[in-house]
Amino acid sequence: MKSKLIIAIDGPAAAGKGTLARRLAHHFGLPHLDTGLLYRAVARRMLDEGADPADGAAAEATARALDPAETERNDLRTPEVDRAASLVAAEPRVRAALRAFQREFAAARGAVMDGRDIGTVIFPAAPVKLFVTARPEARAERRFRELAGRGIPADEEAVAAEIAERDAQDANRPVGPLRRAEDALLIDTTGLDPDQVFTAALEKIAARIASHA
Ligand code: CDP
Repeated sequence: MKSKLIIAIDGPAAAGKGTLARRLAHHFGLPHLDTGLLYRAVARRMLDEGADPADGAAAEATARALDPAETERNDLRTPEVDRAASLVAAEPRVRAALRAFQREFAAARGAVMDGRDIGTVIFPAAPVKLFVTARPEARAERRFRELAGRGIPADEEAVAAEIAERDAQDANRPVGPLRRAEDALLIDTTGLDPDQVFTAALEKIAARIASHA
């Protein structure tokens, strides 16, 4: 029996993982999970309840009680939630609490999953892994435009500083840090539009699948 395809996409903030993941999911007919939304939903709920996102025990309890439907809230992509999500994501008990859901998501039909530790921790045996990145200036500019497009006032330098801080926090935590898996294909999206990123990814994926067939 042909095994189910799992495409693991990791990379730093605002590198273009989500856009690419959605397009690949559509192309391959696979379900897509943006795993950042799980951490964002935990953070959002804690902020709503006046809890401290740095409180590990409270964060774990929130993660264990999370209803996946909460990832569909439309208030998860704010600068406040960016910061709080990175804090709760540094807590090993939160990562452990969200692990089973992520693995089960891909069990029936395979999946395209994007996050920080998909190719290293969640699916270390995924046949296709992509590490999507871009120069910090390009990522900051994208996030700035995205916020402006949604009417959220922002300052470009502040956005750049927040992204740098969050990347450092994500890369330096002891459990599930942001890191390129050794067998991940590198895609640098600096200066590329979504179509060009998609085409580059498809070429690399086709070559990887052919070499595994
Ligand atoms: O959209 P953006 O790249 O800015 O962030 P995201 O993918 O929604 O992730 C938000 C935060 O969740 C990150 O800063 C990480 O701290 C955390 N995260 C994680 O730790 N592990 C994942 N698999 C996905 C996200």
